[in-house]
Formats: sequence, C-alpha cells, structure tokens
Amino acid sequence: MSDKAAKKAEKSINNSSKPVLGLATGKTFTGFYKKLVEKHNKKKISFSNITTFNLDEYVGLPSDHPESFHYYMENNLFKDVKIPNQNYHIPNGTAGNLKKECEEYEIKIKNAGGINTQFLGIGENGHIGYNEPGSPHDSRTRVVKLTEETQKNKKEYFESRKVPEKAITMGIGTILEADQIFLLASGEEKAEAVKKTVEGPITKDIPSSALQKHDNCTLIIDEEASTYLPKT
Ligand code: PGA
Repeated sequence: MSDKAAKKAEKSINNSSKPVLGLATGKTFTGFYKKLVEKHNKKKISFSNITTFNLDEYVGLPSDHPESFHYYMENNLFKDVKIPNQNYHIPNGTAGNLKKECEEYEIKIKNAGGINTQFLGIGENGHIGYNEPGSPHDSRTRVVKLTEETQKNKKEYFESRKVPEKAITMGIGTILEADQIFLLASGEEKAEAVKKTVEGPITKDIPSSALQKHDNCTLIIDEEASTYLPKT
C-alpha cells in the first residue's frame, strides 16, 4: 500500500515543475513516508522544488509535542529530506488568532497554485483530515471540535491520555479542490468507513462520502480495509 502510494507521489512530483502536495499523518502514513525518504535517498525524487500542505494540526499542542503533527512530519519526513523551510506548511495550532491562521492557510494554498495531489487517511467514522461527521461538504480550513470517538481512538498515542478537544483542519471543500486525491486505508477497523465512502449515499454524516463528487479520487487500501467491498 505504502509502495503504491509512494509511486503515485513520485509520479506527481516528477510530472510537475512546481508540485504541490497535500499531506496526511497518522499510523497509515508512516510506511509511505519511509518510502518517500528511500526515493529521496536514491535521488528518484527531489524535495527542493516541492511545496507541501498538511491537512491538520491539534489546537494547543506546541510543535515539539510528540503527538503534534509538526513533530510527526519532522520525524517521519522533513528531517531526512532537503525541503526548504518556507516550502512546507502545517496549520499552527498555537497561533494567537486561530481564525486568522485558518484564513491565511487557505490563502497560502491558493497562492501556491492549489494542491496537485492530496493524500488522505480516513477515520473509523469516515473523517477526512479532521472533518468529523456533520462537516459541510463545502467547508474550508477552520477550527473543529473532535468527537468523543475520535478522542478515544487517539488516546493510546498520548502519554497523558489527554487528547486535545480541538484541531485545525482543511475543510472538505478545500480538499475537493485538489486535482487528484489518494485515500489510504489499512486494517479491518477501517472497512466499514471504506464501504460507506465508496458505496454509501453522499451524506454529511460520512465526510469521506464527499469524495464521490471528485472525478479523480483513488483509494489505495489493504485486504482488511476492503472486507465489506464486493470482490471481483
Ligand atoms: P490513522 O489515522 O492513520 O492513525 O488510523 C487516520 C485518521 O484518523 O484520519
């Protein structure tokens, strides 16, 4: 799965003179970033000309907190590849003015020319980024409240067992503006959400179902995550 996704990233990077990637975090993506670092080390891809935008960040976590997505990206990718500081973007969850931070994030994406290739994970409840059920499909980058289910699912990663209640996330509308989208899902715990993404009605209750409206969205999933999809 990671290999396939990394090949898609390689193609996207090498097919454009100014590639703009939308990046995700979480356990689903650690293998993907390992592959990207390998490709960088083998000089198959260069990060010198890439711009990246991460989907989300917890509100209130400093960038050196081990569960912040700043820390995740530094640890899993940025420390190993030569990406100029000004070329990567992650929402700042400790900004004094969060509303302004969100508005400026949208402007930065626009000024970069929009996202060419967006990578997404998925939550068990169908969240994409941190767009929880009920998120409008035309939503933009904003502060959101995490559901109790999401906080419970993420608890094991936090030493304090205290998961932040809020996050900044790109909106579903922001995500849908990417030229192409790859959603990765691994494990049976994602199978129900995968089925609803692909086969369910398009509804605010399942944020990922909005992806059916996109004409260039591909799911890269493992056997377990495909449990409830018809086998051909
Ligand atoms: P995971 O997170 O990759 O850690 O399962 C995905 C998500 O919650 O969107």
